[in-house]
Amino acid sequence: MAFSSFLFLLLLLVGSSLGVDSAKKEKFTGPVINVTKHLSFPDFSLDNPRMVHDVRLLGSAKLSKETGAVQIPDVSEAIDLRHLAGRALYSSPVRLLDPATRTPASFETTFDFQFKNDSSVTPARNDAGSAGTGGTHGGSGLTFIIVPDEFTVGRSGPWLGMLNDACDEEYKAVAVEFDTRHNPEFGDPNDNHVGINLGSIVSTRTINLSDIGVSLKDGSIHRARIRYDGPKRWIEINLGSVGQEFPSTPAFSGFLDLSPHLKEYMFVGFSASTGNLTQIHNVLSWNFTSTSQASLRIPSDETCESKIILGNTQTPGGAKTEPISNFLIFAAVVVLALAILVSLYYNSKRRGDKPSTIVLPEKIQRPRPPNKPRSFTVNEVSCATRGFGEYEVLGSDYRGSFYRGKLPNGCQVAVKRFSTHFLNSYGLDRRRILKEICAISRIRHPNLVPIRGWCHDKVELMVIYDFFPNGSLDKWLFGVGVLPWTRRFKVIKDAAEALSFLHSKKLAHKNMKTTSVLLDVTFRAVLGDFGFVLSGSGSRKFESATSQAADVFEFGVIALEVIAGRRRSDPEVEEEEEKDLLDFSWRMHEINEKVKVFDRRMGSLVNLEQAIRVLEIGLLCTLNESKGRPSMEEVVNLLATDKPIPELPPSRPVALFPYSSTTGLCAGYSCAPFR
Ligand SMILES: *[C@@H]1O[C@H](CO)[C@@H](O)[C@H](O)[C@H]1NC(C)=O
Ligand SMILES: *[C@@H]1O[C@H](CO)[C@@H](O)[C@H](O)[C@H]1NC(C)=O
Ligand SMILES: *[C@@H]1O[C@H](CO)[C@@H](O)[C@H](O)[C@H]1NC(C)=O
Ligand SMILES: *[C@@H]1O[C@H](CO)[C@@H](O)[C@H](O)[C@H]1NC(C)=O
Ligand SMILES: *[C@@H]1O[C@H](CO)[C@@H](O)[C@H](O)[C@H]1NC(C)=O
Repeated sequence: MAFSSFLFLLLLLVGSSLGVDSAKKEKFTGPVINVTKHLSFPDFSLDNPRMVHDVRLLGSAKLSKETGAVQIPDVSEAIDLRHLAGRALYSSPVRLLDPATRTPASFETTFDFQFKNDSSVTPARNDAGSAGTGGTHGGSGLTFIIVPDEFTVGRSGPWLGMLNDACDEEYKAVAVEFDTRHNPEFGDPNDNHVGINLGSIVSTRTINLSDIGVSLKDGSIHRARIRYDGPKRWIEINLGSVGQEFPSTPAFSGFLDLSPHLKEYMFVGFSASTGNLTQIHNVLSWNFTSTSQASLRIPSDETCESKIILGNTQTPGGAKTEPISNFLIFAAVVVLALAILVSLYYNSKRRGDKPSTIVLPEKIQRPRPPNKPRSFTVNEVSCATRGFGEYEVLGSDYRGSFYRGKLPNGCQVAVKRFSTHFLNSYGLDRRRILKEICAISRIRHPNLVPIRGWCHDKVELMVIYDFFPNGSLDKWLFGVGVLPWTRRFKVIKDAAEALSFLHSKKLAHKNMKTTSVLLDVTFRAVLGDFGFVLSGSGSRKFESATSQAADVFEFGVIALEVIAGRRRSDPEVEEEEEKDLLDFSWRMHEINEKVKVFDRRMGSLVNLEQAIRVLEIGLLCTLNESKGRPSMEEVVNLLATDKPIPELPPSRPVALFPYSSTTGLCAGYSCAPFR
């Protein structure tokens, strides 16, 4: 009974999907036409009544009545013009990509811009923060920007109002920056350059404008022209002055494929920002033209007929459509029969050669809340990750690889696929791992990555996590850019709370390292990539206690890595005695020079007292258990209060850590100390 209704349902599904498919194919049959758009703003004067509708202002931006220009930041609103960001976009989207051929549109844009000093700033008001080479003036710069929506403002400071979150992969922005600040951490050559940015604040190309005799900050009105040939994927950027021809050689020209960074319709305009130095960015005039090609969509006969079929199934009496629906039913039956045969074959094959199938509590599928963790089939995971394609690999370690995936409901996930080598080489008990996965997937905490499910068969063992587009802590700590101390401190606190919660549930993380700490868009730290298993055997009771102790130890090392901004073992460090971070930190403690451990890139913005406290807590965590290694609960307590830290031994306890940070394996558990 149930089976036959299931059959019927499948039939319907197959039938309707066939119908949709045939309709889809007929869509792009018309002749090729040009889609063009032309915008022209000789000025941005508010006398033009259309101006308020055509220009969308976001963040700190305005249309200046006095100068008839777009002005970022908005001078009238703020007294302190530092750390502001704004955007001015054309209010309707522009077609910039032909999705059928993935060819970018061709476009040409010309605009006049001028950077002015903020006259209200006098050197007297210029406090400690901006004492540097640049004097009082010099905001971050202006970009011509292409963005996916009309309601996002970017970050201020060196982010030029361009990116909302530096690693949000869903938010694609393309920009040409006119940068007047030198941010070496983003690869800037100097404080007077043009850069091409593809979804990242680190430019793919930079052009030193001093080389061609242009100074963005000289207060004059500059005219820029950007021309892009979509089919040839060629960009040309010119810089000149108003009323003059552009110099015969462009500031930059070269091959540039924008197609991976474009959506069919996007918004175009400008963004700018100020950091701890200010500057007023004006755009005085702007023209933009784009052309892309599209196939004219015309209603074909088939499309109409399949629409009629759909309509007729609801109202009885559609004799005319019989031939087609007969065909659909026939096709559906064939597909169904095939599917049944294939599944029968696989089932029998599985039963045939598998004496010790893992029996999991896998009950009949009942409707369940959408995000409740569940068991996935290998096929589902394979589809979600495009067959574990190499472009979907997010990272890997000795335990296996991470893949990015997309579930049919559109949710992005990260899939950990344990390597066969790992699963086989430690004599791991899969049933126990699965039990542990289920146990962890049942608990929820704001600082733990939610587990969506798991997947296992005779060879595979996978865990499906929620995806965090901001990536893992190591990228932020050891990559380009510098995480400020306040963020680092928050990360440490978040990680401590997550571990403390896990331990309170008699569970452990078992794979603590910077790659297991993920950051969400607000830079909240969440722990993922659980180890689930200790490599090595031992009684369960013993394991639970030791793995929690090992978590504390690893947490201590991560705290040191966060403070120092470098890996626990860094072959690039020149000083031999500084290579091993844990060792180095203990020695700096011995000679009372803890400050030497701190990441110098953070500059003077570190809260020294707090950082020294965290460093001491980190060292405390690496002590032998019987010699004072705290529990995570105690660590959370120490981080949240000003309670005095238990005294550290004056010198590095010698036999204390049989801990070696040379191999990935040892960074895991096997050599971590527990007795
Ligand atoms: C479309 O534009 C291209 C060049 O931009 C031109 O060669 C072609 O003739 C145009 N096609 C139509 C149908 O206007
Ligand atoms: C834009 O076009 C208008 C009208 O053709 C022209 O007056 C203006 O100077 C142009 N602006 C730029 C920046 O090219
Ligand atoms: C402010 O500017 C100075 C240089 O003028 C720089 O050293 C410092 O890092 C800046 N502070 C911030 C928060 O950007
Ligand atoms: C940029 O160009 C100027 C003038 O040619 C030169 O002095 C300067 O060193 C260049 N900067 C870089 C980073 O190449
Ligand atoms: C803005 O101020 C800087 C230094 O504070 C100076 O070098 C520059 O010439 C000024 N620009 C204008 C347009 O006044």
